[in-house]
Amino acid sequence: MATVADHYEIHLAPVYLWMAGGFDAAVSRGEAEIEAVLPTLASGTTAVDLGAGFGMHTIPLARRGCSVVAVDTSSILLDELRVHAEALPVRAVEDDLLSFPRHLDAKANLILCMGDTLTHLPELASVEKLFSLVAESLRSGGKFIATFRDYTSPLVGQGRFVSVKSDTDRILTCFLEYAPDYVNVHDVLHERIASTWRLRVSAYRKLRLSPEWVSTALQANGFSVHVEPGLEGMVRVVATSV
Ligand SMILES: C[S@@+](CC[C@H](N)C(=O)[O-])C[C@H]1O[C@@H](n2cnc3c(N)ncnc32)[C@H](O)[C@@H]1O
Repeated sequence: MATVADHYEIHLAPVYLWMAGGFDAAVSRGEAEIEAVLPTLASGTTAVDLGAGFGMHTIPLARRGCSVVAVDTSSILLDELRVHAEALPVRAVEDDLLSFPRHLDAKANLILCMGDTLTHLPELASVEKLFSLVAESLRSGGKFIATFRDYTSPLVGQGRFVSVKSDTDRILTCFLEYAPDYVNVHDVLHERIASTWRLRVSAYRKLRLSPEWVSTALQANGFSVHVEPGLEGMVRVVATSV
């Protein structure tokens, strides 16, 4: 089983933008999500994007006048983010997301952890640790927004094989193998090389987080919490520091 960082570096990051449908399409989805969740977002807001990837949410926030610290362990995805950020007020930091406070000069107004990043943490205790760091790092009235997949109800039989993306030269299929607290995610990648197909497989763990557990853990850190449907079948949690 690969570590999350290795899985991205050797397997997923090089095809991530292809998987997401290209930079412009993905950032448009991020823009729409920011607009829906934060309609009154003020220019000058200080934001942190944990597991920012290529900037699906960082770029829209910065285009709306926020200054954003974008944290990720993938140098490949952060390089994409830097290329597209150009002169926008974005600081891209290669680090573990649990170390994010060391990159802040002051408390933030907004912290995001989007696109199923939360489930990449190694154990429930890491998620609890993150929530306490987020609570300490937000100004009063600040918001923490996370989206994640609810893997608590296991898919069975052929349902465990998920067709993620395909075109004439590449096919990405995901196979999910369930353990009590986590799911082993096998990313099965076929790539056309001339007239043959090359197969590469890498697997990593994701946590099986329930919306109820996430909500309770955030409330224990002093947040008022609202749970709603997010993009593409994800759960969205909007937590306000009170
Ligand atoms: C599923 S992607 C989501 C990316 C982005 N938030 C989005 O919505 O497009 C998960 C991201 O989290 C990063 N990641 C996973 N675990 C991490 C960790 N412990 N610290 C920092 N980044 C992490 C990965 O490198 C990847 O870019």
